[in-house]
Amino acid sequence: MSLQSIKYSRGSLEILDQLLLPGQSKYVVVRGVEDGWKVINKMQVRGAPAIAIVGCLSLAVEINPEEFGSKKSLRQEIEGKLNYLVSARPTAVNMKIAADELITLANELDKDETVAVSEMKQRFLKATEAMLEKDIADNRAIGAHGAKAIMQRVAEAGGAPAASSGAVRVLTHCNTGSLATAGYGTALGVVRQLAELGKLEHVYCTETRPYNQGARLTAYELVHEKFPATLVLDSMVAALLRAKNVAAVVVGADRVASNGDTANKIGTYQIAVVAKHHGVPFYVAAPLTSIDLAIPSGDHIIIEERPDREMTHVGEHRIAAPGINCWNPAFDVTPASLITGIITERGVFKPAELKEAITKLLES
Ligand code: MRU
Repeated sequence: MSLQSIKYSRGSLEILDQLLLPGQSKYVVVRGVEDGWKVINKMQVRGAPAIAIVGCLSLAVEINPEEFGSKKSLRQEIEGKLNYLVSARPTAVNMKIAADELITLANELDKDETVAVSEMKQRFLKATEAMLEKDIADNRAIGAHGAKAIMQRVAEAGGAPAASSGAVRVLTHCNTGSLATAGYGTALGVVRQLAELGKLEHVYCTETRPYNQGARLTAYELVHEKFPATLVLDSMVAALLRAKNVAAVVVGADRVASNGDTANKIGTYQIAVVAKHHGVPFYVAAPLTSIDLAIPSGDHIIIEERPDREMTHVGEHRIAAPGINCWNPAFDVTPASLITGIITERGVFKPAELKEAITKLLES
């Protein structure tokens, strides 16, 4: 069984507090949008898909017991609150895309004269709840496409980086697993699929300073799953790729621009540079809800900057010299030229073919 970051049933939402992991497994009750905004902003829940799901479900639990006098008042509530939730963290696009889709649905239902206000609310709740199952199904498909692409790439390269069993060593960054999604995971879903196929010789995960998603969360998931796994510090990636015959790097995404430039956890860009130097393929695994076709390149992505304290302290203990200035961007942008393939639930695309392929898929 994989770890469950989100527990939901109609009218009730709880999230596993990721600030306390791995020391404590404690669920926090999310009673409505204000709680939803806070748990996302404080990173008690994090990871682009999980942010979107928790944001939307926090609105679902808020409006579930409410009576609305008119469809217009329900529509206004949905629109206002979803736009507010988008502001909790700016870089990941999933919450914005989910908000836009749900606002479009609310507008359509408001205009449809055959739909009463009670039915409009029910249909909105159902659409929100459907995100949970869809995310898990998408992640499974990402896992299958990604594992196949990596194995194919290894075979084409003459099997050189693989172990004698045909199993491979991969490197991942940050946390993209069950904790960052509704379940299974994106990049970690690819790792999970390799393991299910008996093709995972070893997975390396980075510490992911300063918030330590790798050391605290990914390592926790990998130990939980009993995968053969090793933690490395962020500063060890070049040495690791030189020494350990890693077949591929696979990371997640917070926002992929239409040219394939990808915003992901800080440190991703330097891993991609090092992977290029060592001839190691570099894959981004992300659902279509992380792809922002509205922006032409990564230059248009707003990078969240977080408090200095994440860098200067470990827990309550200060590790940095008092008085030093800090720069703490939570994400960086990896240029498309460093990316081998973008693994989605609908297949693996080269960055240059992404826009056309996704546009076609969305139209079909
Ligand atoms: O700041 P975080 O922990 O929310 O950042 C998470 C990442 O960068 C993940 O790689 C990304 O959201 C994909 S999660 C499936």
